[in-house]
Amino acid sequence: MRINPFIITEDYVAPEYFCDREFESSVLRSNILNGRNTVLISPRRMGKSGLIAHVIRERSLVEAYTTFTLDLFPTTSLTEMILLLSNEIVGKMKSKEERFIDRFVSYVKSLRPGVKMNPASGEFEFNLSLGEITRPQESLEEIFQYLSDSPKPCIVAIDEFQQIAEYSEKNVIALLRSHVQKCANSRFIFAGSNRRMMDKLFNSPSEPFYLSCSPLYLDVIDKDKYWVFARSHFEASGCSISRECFDIVYDRFEGHTWYVQRILNELFERAQNDIFVSEECISEAVDFVVKLNSKAFEDQFKSYSDAQKSLLIAIAKEGNANGITSIAFVRRHSLKTPSTVQSAARQLYEQEVITKNDTCYSITNRFFAIWLNNIYGSR
Ligand SMILES: Nc1ncnc2c1ncn2[C@@H]1O[C@H](COP(=O)(O)OP(=O)(O)OP(=O)(O)O)[C@@H](O)[C@H]1O
Ligand SMILES: [Mg+2]
Repeated sequence: MRINPFIITEDYVAPEYFCDREFESSVLRSNILNGRNTVLISPRRMGKSGLIAHVIRERSLVEAYTTFTLDLFPTTSLTEMILLLSNEIVGKMKSKEERFIDRFVSYVKSLRPGVKMNPASGEFEFNLSLGEITRPQESLEEIFQYLSDSPKPCIVAIDEFQQIAEYSEKNVIALLRSHVQKCANSRFIFAGSNRRMMDKLFNSPSEPFYLSCSPLYLDVIDKDKYWVFARSHFEASGCSISRECFDIVYDRFEGHTWYVQRILNELFERAQNDIFVSEECISEAVDFVVKLNSKAFEDQFKSYSDAQKSLLIAIAKEGNANGITSIAFVRRHSLKTPSTVQSAARQLYEQEVITKNDTCYSITNRFFAIWLNNIYGSR
């Protein structure tokens, strides 16, 4: 079956479907090989997870390191983090080593209740439930001891790291920092999309992780390199896209990876019938994707207060909105007062519905911004 080369799922498929990131890959690789931990920051959907997956699959790293990855996005406590981390370690290791589970729980004694006999196979397996994690701080310490004593050095990639700041227990970050510091044979990658939180955690002198990691900020993929990548995939399947059309897609989404990928994925499918991509085809593809999401956007929009709705419409209209609490902005968009704008913006920002870059605000989901403009743009 022919694969659409413009991957839009979170799964990393293969290097040939991964565009550029050579510089960032070399920085990440060199950090790992030279004993530096990395803090990787970018806006949502720019390609952090893809970059990590791309680098840790390199042959030399696969051979030299055991890699564990975990995404903390759904977690709300250290207990949940322990569950994810222990399942990741057991899942990765159990096929490699006979009696691995015995060895793991000989280190992580506090998680021994997770070892159970499978009645069907009669074999012991690790099947831990949240309720069985009764001493999470002790479990964390034991897991780090296991990593420290691992015969092969480890890479531990922790995605959406800023989530830890929301945990019910307050000392987790300091605890983690002290374990990371002592774990000499493991390299850590801390990735996150909340720039404000990540900067605070890693750049603020009062924070435990202050200046402990090498920073890597992920920006958009270079336009020329993205063009070469896109063209080659279209040509390889016997169709084509012009540079002008590619530029329209790239510019429309300011090069933001997932949005560009989403439309190229759509155009690639259409080009299989029409051979080449026209400008009309791009508008159709964008409208189609926005339409697919319109019910969700409608429900989302309904859930906001009037002040938030008006502000979202105003920011969408401007694309990148500067000085949103200025009198000029408030008047231009017939908003109430600078202070109502400020409080609406704060809530929307905390929910990550809007994004802030220096003093400039934009709608985080670029398709939502297009939907807002389609419905409310002419008012
Ligand atoms: N270099 C690349 N070449 C091609 N596609 C890419 C590249 N990087 C990322 N993508 C694609 O873009 C989308 C977003 O990437 P990814 O999930 O890595 O972003 P992220 O920054 O981790 O997002 P989030 O903040 O939501 O976790 C995915 O569909 C991925 O396949
Ligand atoms: Mg990610």
